[in-house]
Amino acid sequence: MKKVLILDYGSQYTQLIARRIRDLGIYSFIMPGDVSLARIQEYDPSAVILSGGPSSVYEKDAPSFAPEFLDFQKRSKLPVLGICYGLQLLVHHLGGKVNPGQHRGEFGKAKVIPTRESTLVGTSPRTAWMSHGDEVSQVPTGFTVVARSEAGTVAAVENPAAKIYALQFHPEVTHTENGGEILKYFLTQVAGLKPDWNMSSVIETQIAKIRAQVGSDDHAICALSGGVDSAVAATLVHQAIGDRLHCVFVDHGLMRLDEQKRVMKLFKDELGLPVECVDASDVFFTKLQGVTDPEQKRKIIGAEFIAVFREAANRLETTFKRRPQFLVQGTLYPDVIESSPATGTTGNKFSVTIKSHHNVGGLPKDLGFALIEPLRDLFKDEVRKLGAELKVPTAFLKRHPFPGPGLGVRILGEVTRARVEILQKVDEVFIQSLHEAGLYDQIWQAFAFFLPIRSVGVQGDFRTHDHMVGLRAVTSVDGMTADWFQFDPRFLAQVSTRICNEVRGVNRVVYDISSKPPATIELE
Ligand code: XMP
Repeated sequence: MKKVLILDYGSQYTQLIARRIRDLGIYSFIMPGDVSLARIQEYDPSAVILSGGPSSVYEKDAPSFAPEFLDFQKRSKLPVLGICYGLQLLVHHLGGKVNPGQHRGEFGKAKVIPTRESTLVGTSPRTAWMSHGDEVSQVPTGFTVVARSEAGTVAAVENPAAKIYALQFHPEVTHTENGGEILKYFLTQVAGLKPDWNMSSVIETQIAKIRAQVGSDDHAICALSGGVDSAVAATLVHQAIGDRLHCVFVDHGLMRLDEQKRVMKLFKDELGLPVECVDASDVFFTKLQGVTDPEQKRKIIGAEFIAVFREAANRLETTFKRRPQFLVQGTLYPDVIESSPATGTTGNKFSVTIKSHHNVGGLPKDLGFALIEPLRDLFKDEVRKLGAELKVPTAFLKRHPFPGPGLGVRILGEVTRARVEILQKVDEVFIQSLHEAGLYDQIWQAFAFFLPIRSVGVQGDFRTHDHMVGLRAVTSVDGMTADWFQFDPRFLAQVSTRICNEVRGVNRVVYDISSKPPATIELE
C-alpha cells in the first residue's frame, strides 16, 4: 500500500493533516520532524508533508528534517509539500530567506491571490487560514512564487521540476476554501497516489498481519472493558484466528446497571466472541473499604484488575495446556503519537500526573505476552467505521466512553456496594432520559455521580435526610478539553423529578456546570 508521511514540527493541526488525507482514502502516518533518513527510507513513503510548528527556522536548535533529507529528496524526487513552518524550513535550507514578519505576521483568515498560473493553488483568489509570525523574503533558486496574501506576503511557492511545493497557509483547516482540493491535487497528481485505503483494506491487511504474527498454533488473550476499542480489536482478531482468541471481561462491581449482562450478551450472542466473565466484585469492594483518596482508589482498582487478569491467564494456560503468547490491546493512533512527542525524537515531555489512568489498553508490558494492537494506526472515529464494517452493532459503537475504574471514580469518598447501587439507578434514569429526548448522540459523555453528603428534604409530608447526586454531561472532541452541555432546564427538571421519585435514598440532584479545564470530566 502506498502511503504519505507527515513530518511533525509541533503544529496544533498535524493530526488534522493526517485526518484530511485519510478522508481522501489515502493512508497517512505522522513521525517526529527530525526522524532519521534511514527510518524514512524504511517506511518508504510516496510523498512527504512537512507540518507547521511554533518555532522560527533561523533560531538556534529550531526543529528540522534529518540533514541528509534534502539530498535524498533531490536524488529520489520524492514529492514534498511544506505547510507553514514546513514552507519556511524548505526555503531556509534550500538557500532562500525567512525573516520575522513585517507586521508581526498573519493570523486567521486571509485572502490568497495567485500571482502566476499554478496547478497547485489554481488561478482564483481564495480565503485561507494563516497562522505565522515569520515570512519568506527571498525564495530559493528554481522556485516560483505562485500566490501572495493581500498584504503581499509569499503564500505559495513551487518547483514542479523538483517536485517540491509549499504553502504558507493551512490547506488542512476547514477555514481554507477548497483546501482539500490542494491536498488532493498534490497527492494524486504530483505524487500519483490512488485512494485505495478504506476499512475493507484495513481489515484485509490486519487479518493477514495477525495470522502471520500468531501463526497456526498459538493463542491470544484479550481483556474486554465493554468499550468500543477493545470490542473492535477483539472482533478483528477473532476473524483472524477464531477461537484461539480468549476474551476476559473483569467485572469489578463498579459497572453501570446490568452492564455485565449487556456486554456478555453483545460479545457472546451478537459478536460470537469466546468470552469469560470473571466476577471479582467482592475482592474489589474489600480492597476499597475505607479508602477515600482518589489516587489511592485508582491505584487499588488498577492493581487489582491486573491481578484478576493474571489469574485468568493462568487458568487459560491450565485449560489449553499452553500459555497464550499474545495479548490483544485496543491501543489507538493518538496514544501512539503522544508517545513520540513533536519536540523531536530526543525531546523531553514534561507533564504532571493529574490522574493515574487505568484502562484495559494499558496493561503492563511485563505480563509476559507479545502485543497485538490492530487499531494502532487508527483514530477513534475510524475505529467506529471499522466496527461498523465488522458488523458491531451501531448502538454499541456510539456509546459514550466509560473509564476503566468505572463508578469507582464517580463515587466521591468511600466506594460501597450500597452507594454503587444508588448510583447505578440514578445513572440509568439519566441515560435513558437522554435517549428518550434524542440527546444522547449530541453529547460526548454523560453520567451521574455520587456525593458523600446528605441533605434535608421533604417527601410526602415527611422529613428526609438523604443522599445528593450530581449529573454531568459534556461535549468534547477528544476528552482533552470539554464544555458542559447546556440542557433545556425543562429536561433537567424532568430528570431530577424522576430520580427523586424512582431512586430510594436520593432527595437532591445537582447539575455540574464546570468545563475542562478547570475541572476534569470525571470527578476523581
Ligand atoms: P478526565 O477525567 O481525565 O477524563 O477529564 C478524560 C476522559 O478519559 C476518561 N477516563 C478514563 N478512561 N481509564 C479510562 O479508560 C481511566 O482511568 C480514565 N479516567 C478518565 C474519561 O471518562 C473521559 O472520557
